[in-house]
Amino acid sequence: MSNQDKLIIFDTTLRDGEQSPGASMTKDEKLRIAKALEKMRVDVIEAGFPIASQGDFQAVQAIARVIKNSTVCGLARALEKDIDRAGEAIKEANSGRIHTFIATSPIHMEKKLRMSPDEVVKQAVWAVRHARKYTDDIEFSAEDAGRSDIDFLCRIFEQVIEAGATTINVPDTVGYNLPQQFGETLRTLIERIPNSDKAIFSVHCHNDLGLASANSLAAVLNSARQVECTINGLGERAGNASLEEVVMAVRTRRDLFDCDSELDTTQIVNCSRLVASITGFPVQPNKAIVGANAFAHEAGIHQDGVLKNRETYEIMRAEDVGWVQNRMVLGKHSGRNAFRVRLEELGISFESEKEVNEAFRRFKDLADKKHEIFDDDLQALVTDAGFISENERVKLVSMKVCSETGETPDATVVLTVDAEEQSGRSIGGGPVDATFKAIEEIVQSGAELQLYSVNAITSGTDAQGEVTVRLQRDGRIVNGQGADTDIVIASAKAYVNAFNKLEHEIQRSHPQQDDV
Ligand code: KIV
Ligand code: ZN
Repeated sequence: MSNQDKLIIFDTTLRDGEQSPGASMTKDEKLRIAKALEKMRVDVIEAGFPIASQGDFQAVQAIARVIKNSTVCGLARALEKDIDRAGEAIKEANSGRIHTFIATSPIHMEKKLRMSPDEVVKQAVWAVRHARKYTDDIEFSAEDAGRSDIDFLCRIFEQVIEAGATTINVPDTVGYNLPQQFGETLRTLIERIPNSDKAIFSVHCHNDLGLASANSLAAVLNSARQVECTINGLGERAGNASLEEVVMAVRTRRDLFDCDSELDTTQIVNCSRLVASITGFPVQPNKAIVGANAFAHEAGIHQDGVLKNRETYEIMRAEDVGWVQNRMVLGKHSGRNAFRVRLEELGISFESEKEVNEAFRRFKDLADKKHEIFDDDLQALVTDAGFISENERVKLVSMKVCSETGETPDATVVLTVDAEEQSGRSIGGGPVDATFKAIEEIVQSGAELQLYSVNAITSGTDAQGEVTVRLQRDGRIVNGQGADTDIVIASAKAYVNAFNKLEHEIQRSHPQQDDV
């Protein structure tokens, strides 16, 4: 594909996606998602904001070391300390990018940065030149471009291209634009900036008005050649443009677009499930492309039409985005090697033999309880709380819950806290309530339960239940997950997982903080 025909897909699930309250991920979880994105042939993976914390730095560094076929990008404000940290984090990447940004809208420059437009241009040019010391692949973003003056955008973009920026990103940071207007902005910028041919123009749209994908597509129709997006549309506030929507819109309407991505779209559903199960943000059933109902036909007339000729009501083929019949992949008698191979096919690999052994032990336990093991069960098995739990303060040892008609549910839970066994007992309004209270009796987190949800991973009454628990303490929100064929045990695992995250999470800075 030539430069003009290729639409570059820049995935920011691990950076902007992680900015969704409660969506924070561990280094290992980020690595798993990065590997799945690489398998899907995403061009650029924005792996994080290295200055945010030591953990963020290490995650970007680990991804840069492991990922070979996608460019790995680190975000940096237009500040020396940010750029140096990002440069260090991507140093070992096969192909590494620094993404530096500064706000350009009048309100951001005046109220947040307290800088004049001239100072902002100077800082941006300096930042790009400084970033070039680490890599030639430099992306520059004008934060809040969607509310910036077009003449000012032309001026700053021309100068940063001159300074060596190779990608120019136009973010609609607050999701304010409408498609026609945003398309027009891209057309004007590309036409008016004298050296626009020296850079790829990119867009980064937020979904505050539900228009992130539409705005991104309007930009592509007006010569943008990179779209920044996230799996399942995760991201700050209402989220970012969703990768699956943008990619499939362009692929399905090649009659209207003069470019296409090189993505292996059959990986989309896998990636979507992985991100949903790691973050605990379930996908709504009617979500385009990846929702459970996206290819289901309820109305009789539709079913009849689809049976006669699928194209009567379907514009895409379910299998092209990775929907396959939930296959029974493994059973009680499957060996360790078959287990490992199937997980690798799902993009899950292990760092050590110890991890394989632990996962295999869990698989055998599950196979004892559940006759047929599906791909989704395997995903849950490795996402499940405490899989590699050496660093976790609290672990679930055992529990007993009594629930009987006419009686008050009563739970006893045994946990290890810092390797010391402790037990708690409580009654509650239901078995889950009693269990959570018994856990709280031990850990005394002081956290507020904000959300509790249960999803059946596969069909059938022997299905595993996947539970998400969201806890909030001191303004920090975390999601915990747990899976088990017994949903009360899954709930306890999820609660313990959330508590461990709450204990682990350290203070991190936010990219849109104003300390320029
Ligand atoms: O929304 C935004 O403006 C951003 C920038 C950092 C690109 O996320
Ligand atoms: Zn953003």
